Amino acid sequence: MTASIISGKEVAASLRNEIKLEVQEWKDNVTPGLAVILVGDNPASRSYVKGKEKASSEVGIYSELTEMPEDISEKNLLDKVEEYNENPAIHGILVQLPLPDHISEKKVIESISPEKDVDGFHPISIGRMMTGKDTFLPCTPFGILKMLKYKDIEIEGKHAVVIGRSNIVGKPVGQLLLNENATVTYCHSRTADLPYYTAQADIVIAATGIAEFITKEHVKDGAVVIDVGMNRKEDGKLCGDVAFEEVKEKASYLTPVPGGVGPMTITMLLYNTLQSAKKFVN
Ligand code: GUN
Repeated sequence: MTASIISGKEVAASLRNEIKLEVQEWKDNVTPGLAVILVGDNPASRSYVKGKEKASSEVGIYSELTEMPEDISEKNLLDKVEEYNENPAIHGILVQLPLPDHISEKKVIESISPEKDVDGFHPISIGRMMTGKDTFLPCTPFGILKMLKYKDIEIEGKHAVVIGRSNIVGKPVGQLLLNENATVTYCHSRTADLPYYTAQADIVIAATGIAEFITKEHVKDGAVVIDVGMNRKEDGKLCGDVAFEEVKEKASYLTPVPGGVGPMTITMLLYNTLQSAKKFVN
């Protein structure tokens, strides 16, 4: 079987178009506002933040960037978050991670008002997600779910194997698939005999952080394979966690890197910010 390639770019463009139209419709009532806080000068974080600002302005969302130096005190950062919690023009707050070692990520995440937690990282948002309540869903897992739904890929009753257990991707994507009535298995770096599990999967979510780690031996014929990885090869080229060329010959659907899950993450941030703004009007 040769896989049909799911273009995240295409799905993201279609969703961003819908978001843009809805922002237009709501403009007499509210302009969605997103505050982004960047601490320090990590080039990858800076590049993600720039992408978020650009995407926001393209759909008509107001965005505001606060840059803070690497040695900013935890208190100053918490004060800034509090200011945004109180600011009525801001409906979503995102503190770009990772933070410097002297600042507690836990404290900062918990300082964001759950009503403005468009990243979906606050323990209250996570608790709501786990109990199936209405909440902001974390952007990468939410984007994966949207891609599957866009392609009408059946989730209910399917066996999904998630490889990776990070708080940002692995754990929540498994929970979202469970909420959709999949049977979910979590695998990780300490899993004994990984191919034993992945070979049974109808849906494989690869979030290992290891370049081209998932090969054709891991995948059963006709499986749906979602690649969350973003790695750089020795020759400088980007690649995912999946060996694309060989897995393509076995999977039914496969996401590319770049142009797969990546464009969906920012799109869901825009989506969450719009939903938040609408709730503030009602
Ligand atoms: N760092 C890497 N990904 C993310 C993300 O989705 N949100 C935040 N806040 N920081 C990140």
